Amino acid sequence: MTPDSDNRPDHPSARCVLGVGIATLDLINEVAVYPREDEEVRALTQRRVRGGNVANSLVILSQLGRPCRWVGTLGDDPAADLILADLARHGIETRDAVRVPGGTTPTSYVALSRANGTRTIVHFRDLPELDADAFDQVDLKDVAWVHFEGRNPPETRRMIQRVRSEAPELPVSVELEKRRPGIEWLMDGPRVLLASRGFALASGCRRAGAFLEDLARCTDAELCVVAWGAQGASYLARGGRVQAVPAFRPETVVDTLGAGDVFNAGVVQGLASGLTADGAVREAVRLAGLKCGRPGLTLEDDP
Ligand code: FRU
Repeated sequence: MTPDSDNRPDHPSARCVLGVGIATLDLINEVAVYPREDEEVRALTQRRVRGGNVANSLVILSQLGRPCRWVGTLGDDPAADLILADLARHGIETRDAVRVPGGTTPTSYVALSRANGTRTIVHFRDLPELDADAFDQVDLKDVAWVHFEGRNPPETRRMIQRVRSEAPELPVSVELEKRRPGIEWLMDGPRVLLASRGFALASGCRRAGAFLEDLARCTDAELCVVAWGAQGASYLARGGRVQAVPAFRPETVVDTLGAGDVFNAGVVQGLASGLTADGAVREAVRLAGLKCGRPGLTLEDDP
C-alpha cells in the first residue's frame, strides 16, 4: 500500500481517521526465551514506548499517509507526556484527549521472546474509560472513518449511536478483541467488525468460518473480519461467503506485539481508500506479516 498522495482538503484521503480507544505505556523487556514460572531472568534489551490498540493502529495509518486523530483518556503523569509526544511525532492530532487529574496511565509489562517473537503482556489499568459525554464534544467534521475499540460497551454504544445519527454516512469500525460483558451491544451500527482469534475462541468457535457465520447473524455490519495470526485472516461480506486469506510470513518472526493493531489499520486504510473487502484484507495481512518481521511499529526503515 502506498501513502495517499492526494492531499486536497475535499479529497476523501485528506479526511482523517478518528480512533477511539486506549493509549498505554509499554515497558518491553526482550528475553532470550519466555521464562518459567518463579524463574528470574535478565532482559536482553528494554524499551519504554507508547502502545495501546487504537493508538498503535493510528500510528500505522499515519505512516500510510492518512491524517489521524486520537480520542481517549490519559493519566496525569510522565507516561502521558511520553504518549502525547509520540503521537505528535507521528502527526496524530490529540486535542480531544481527556487527561484525568491524578490518574495513572495504563501500563503494559511485556515480555518479548527473542526465540520466537511472541509477546506476553501483563496489563495494569486504573483509569476511567472515555465516556460518551466526552465523545459528544468531539467534532466529526473532516472525519472520513471512525474506529472504536470494543471496550466499555455501554458508553461505546452511545458513541456509535451518536455517529450514526449525526453522520449516517460516516463509516464506523469496531475492534472485537476481548469478549466483554455487553460486547454484543456494539454489533449494531458499525459498518465493519474486526475480530481477533482470541475473541472467536472465547465465543466458542475454533474455526474462522463458523465464527464469521455466527457473527454475521448478530450484526448489521457489511463486513466481518477475523485475524487468525499465523494462519492469515478470513472475512465475510454481507450476502457473500466466507473467504480465507493466507498469511504473509516474514523471513523471521521477531516481534508480534501490536500485529493485530497493524492488521486493523490495514483494513481501515484499504476500505477508506476504496479497496474492495478482499483487497483491504489482503493488504492488512501483508502489513501485519511485515510488522512481525520487524521490531516495533515502523513500517519502513528511516531513509
Ligand atoms: C498491543 C497492545 C499494546 C498494549 C496492549 C493493550 O496490541 O496495544 O501496545 O500495551 O496491547 O492491551
